[in-house]
Order: sequence, then C-alpha cells, then structure tokens
Amino acid sequence: MGWWLNGGVWMMIATTIICFVEAEDTFFYTWRITYGDIYAFSNPQRGILINGQFPGPEIRSLTNENLVINVHNDLDEPFLFYFPSLGVQKAAGGFGDLRIYNLPSVPVPFPEPAGDFTFLICDWYHKDHKTLKALLDKGRKIPSPSDGVMINGHALSRTYSITVHKGKTYRFRISNVGLQTSLNFEILGHQMKLIEVEGTHTIQSTYTSLDVHVGQSYSVLVTMDQPPHNYSIVACTRFTGEEFTIQATLHYSNSKGQRP
Ligand SMILES: *[C@@H]1O[C@H](CO)[C@@H](O)[C@H](O)[C@H]1NC(C)=O
Repeated sequence: MGWWLNGGVWMMIATTIICFVEAEDTFFYTWRITYGDIYAFSNPQRGILINGQFPGPEIRSLTNENLVINVHNDLDEPFLFYFPSLGVQKAAGGFGDLRIYNLPSVPVPFPEPAGDFTFLICDWYHKDHKTLKALLDKGRKIPSPSDGVMINGHALSRTYSITVHKGKTYRFRISNVGLQTSLNFEILGHQMKLIEVEGTHTIQSTYTSLDVHVGQSYSVLVTMDQPPHNYSIVACTRFTGEEFTIQATLHYSNSKGQRP
C-alpha cells in the first residue's frame, strides 16, 4: 500500500486507528505431534495426536491476533499444519478446532449467540493412513464408502453429546475434515439458519439439513425452541451406495427423554 493510491490513504488511516484502539496480541503455543492410539470405534487404531489429543487442541482467537505455534514433529514423516492434507494424514487425525472470532468493534449481521459449538465431521477408515496412501500410490482407490462417519473424534453413535438451554440460540460451526465423502448434517426437530460459509457472511436462509462437502466449513444458528428432550444430531454419507450414519446427542439441560 502506498500514499500514491487514492483509496489507500484512507486504508492506512483506518488501519492505524484500529491498531491504536485494539493492539495486536501475540500468543505462544508449543505442540508435539506423535503417533498414538485413537479410540474412534471400540478398538484402538494408530492415529496422529497433538499434545496427546485427538482431535487436537482447540484454538480460540480474535482476528488481528498473532499465534506463534512451536511444532515438534515426532512422526517419521513431514506434517503439514492444522488441516494435514498431505500423505492421507487426515485419515489419522492431526486436525482440531480453530475458531476465529470477530473483534468486538466489528459488527456482524446476527445477534450474539448464547454459545458456540464446533462439529468436525468426516468419513473414517479402519485402515492406517499409510496403508491408504500405499493404495493410492499403487494407482488404486481409497475404498468408498468409508468404514464409518465421525463427529469430533467419535465414530460410535451416542458417545458424543452437547448440552444446551431451552430458548437460547447457538452457533454451530460445521466442517467436513474428511478424505472424500460428502456428508449431510441435520439436527432432528430443529432448523438451521446459515450465517457463514468459509469466513464470509451469507444471505441468511433456513435449512433442515445441509450437505457439507470435503474441506467446506459452514456456520449456522440453531434456536432451542423444541420441548426439552434429547435430539439426534446426524451426519450421514451422501452420494455413496451404502449409507453410513453417526448420531450425536443434543441434550436440553432440563431434558425429560429421548426423541428419535
Ligand atoms: C440424554 O442425553 C444425556 C447426555 O448424552 C444422557 O446422559 C441421557 O441419558 C440421555 N437421556 C435419554 C433419555 O436418552
């Protein structure tokens, strides 16, 4: 940017004012990347852990903040950072929840939600990521459908739940972090108002379910306007012959029972 640009003058002044009012903060993290057991299904399988965790540690950040992450790679292969799209590593984990909030001074086109939940959904395979990679290297395909669908590291239904309060509206961030399968996402009995796609605010439309393709991220607002029960949050494979489904639980804090 230079002073010879007409529009640039205002940009520079605006930037300076924002920096003055809200100084940029810097946060430091140290992460160690290792192989370790993942218990997505009942039996352990080898996965990629960050600081011993799968999914990896949550990062909460504001726009304009700087994050300095010191990564120690104890794997026997290179590791590309938080959405590891090299070497079929996503099939082993190595991903986590990264949320970037707006600065309080930046208006957003929806009211402040009562809470925020992230759903990392993906296809999941019993085979080790190196076995899957070897298949690709031989010119073969990764089997489709997968062996299951995962929500936040859980591939068995009703092992993952979130608790909400009746009457409140929450932001759900949904990302398909899988390898090759489009997934349909639905909260039984509840509507989803789409507010953001890939960091951009959208025209707000309401859906009963959403198709989320590999690599896509959506935010929706969900109002807890139903009788206080447990409801299923469902992620289901799309465009595959055989269908795989996982159900997590949406638990109203004063819940009286389970709705199908
Ligand atoms: C509702 O969900 C909560 C949280 O997962 C669980 O502890 C409870 O047993 C469920 N209740 C019913 C009736 O399924």
